[in-house]
Amino acid sequence: MCGVTHGRIPTGSLFDPLADAYAAARPGYPEHVLTDIERILGRPLAGADVVDVGAGTGIATRLLRDRGARVVAVEPGTAMLARLLERTPDLPALRGDGEALPFRDSVADLITYAQAWHWVDVPVAAAQAARVLRPGGALAVWWNDVDAPDARWWQRQQERLERMSPGYRRDYRRRPFADELRWTGHFDEVVTLTGRWARRIGIDDYLIWQRSRSYVAAIGDRLDDFLDAERRTVLRAFPDGIVVEPFRTLLVIARTPLD
Ligand SMILES: C[S@@+](CC[C@H](N)C(=O)[O-])C[C@H]1O[C@@H](n2cnc3c(N)ncnc32)[C@H](O)[C@@H]1O
Repeated sequence: MCGVTHGRIPTGSLFDPLADAYAAARPGYPEHVLTDIERILGRPLAGADVVDVGAGTGIATRLLRDRGARVVAVEPGTAMLARLLERTPDLPALRGDGEALPFRDSVADLITYAQAWHWVDVPVAAAQAARVLRPGGALAVWWNDVDAPDARWWQRQQERLERMSPGYRRDYRRRPFADELRWTGHFDEVVTLTGRWARRIGIDDYLIWQRSRSYVAAIGDRLDDFLDAERRTVLRAFPDGIVVEPFRTLLVIARTPLD
């Protein structure tokens, strides 16, 4: 994409030490996320100029590219960015921060944050997105959340996290994301969509995925205790070692005015 500039370059990311676990076992995103974005944006992703911010190891970036988008990845963490480039060396990728996007004004049709919007200061990052988007463009932010509120294995995990991970609360992502975007005044339409899906994952990969979570890493010295307890609880629910993990995907799309 044209319009790249170089401003403040951040020094790294707390995800950097997690990059290997992240690349190995993070869940992907269901197709309907991309289809919903195309519907609300009113155009196919093919040929669209897209900036994927907080791109990490490139899970969402590759999905966008596979749909034909001209996508540039932006990621502050050097190790995360290195994994992205190892896997897809031809993918345009920059070190950068959502609060100081390294692009000129009005160069993107779509800005995406997959599982990353909760890391930014909303008024600052929303103003940056509105600046870089073309009129009628969209900011799309989304998350996978494990959706097993009634499952004993999930409840036990949450109790453990609330006990062992400093400051962790199970509802930490229950924020009014759509209202927060409306309140910035930069967007004239904000839409929220949800979808449900599930994946099957072997217990060893499941534990690697747990390691890749920032609040699991924050457990520190007691990480092995957490993972041992997690293995025992999860195997009680899934004795064949194949975990069926249900997800709810929350997608919020905000459109900039047409002029
Ligand atoms: C949970 S990961 C999501 C990675 C990727 N989008 C995915 O779907 O797998 C969150 C990412 O946001 C990045 N991040 C944290 N603060 C950020 C900021 N201020 N601007 C841009 N990205 C940020 C982290 O470095 C990390 O790679």
